Amino acid sequence: MQIKRISPKELAEADRFQISILNPTGRRIRKFSYIKAQYKKHPSLFIACYNPSIVGIVFGFVKREKVLLGELAIKKELRGKGIGLKLVNALVKEAKALRKKEVCLGAQPDAEKFYLKAGFKPILFVQIHHKDIPKNYLHKGFKIEKETNYKDAKRLFIHIKKYDAKLKEKAKKAFNAYDVIYLFVKKL
Ligand SMILES: CC(C)(COP(=O)(O)OP(=O)(O)OC[C@H]1O[C@@H](n2cnc3c(N)ncnc32)[C@H](O)[C@@H]1OP(=O)(O)O)[C@@H](O)C(=O)NCCC(=O)NCCS
Repeated sequence: MQIKRISPKELAEADRFQISILNPTGRRIRKFSYIKAQYKKHPSLFIACYNPSIVGIVFGFVKREKVLLGELAIKKELRGKGIGLKLVNALVKEAKALRKKEVCLGAQPDAEKFYLKAGFKPILFVQIHHKDIPKNYLHKGFKIEKETNYKDAKRLFIHIKKYDAKLKEKAKKAFNAYDVIYLFVKKL
């Protein structure tokens, strides 16, 4: 098994691989044209594990001083063998080489514990439609670190002392939110 940067001619294969795992119905989060454009700017943030064909990938996207871990996928039969951790660590190393300040991501629920093991810090990310915001939302017993307003939604970034999967449901009710996920951050 070998972890290395994805070459230009392998990018389409790596993309097909990640779609087959992350979006098997073909519904894309990022268009391939966007991935190609980002790859051209920062190819070091596109890394795969080969055995000998692709069995795992990680894609990173530069967002000013941060790197967003956008896609991470390991072939089903090879999970639990440390490949995911190796790919994340390789991405962190490349983000450092680019002198970025942090690596961050929005986690799928099934992967939350993996990112804790990889040494990332959890943050609750709450999205509320403006029309649904409770009047006393600042007094719900959560430590709001940052809030932003975006089109029809307010976004809250909430400090977490200790990871608890159930906090998402609690926050959803408390804030009348339409979506709550865990973000994970690693400061570099
Ligand atoms: C999540 C994923 C990337 C993890 O990759 P992996 O190669 O299986 O993970 P690793 O073997 O490197 O695991 C590292 C550690 O995390 C743990 N871990 C991995 N996945 C886990 C999970 N889903 N839940 C709890 N712990 C998990 C491992 O047990 C291991 O712990 P250990 O060091 O104590 O043994 C992989 O399961 C995957 O591709 N899942 C489907 C796609 C996905 O969810 N991607 C992430 C989108 S945010």
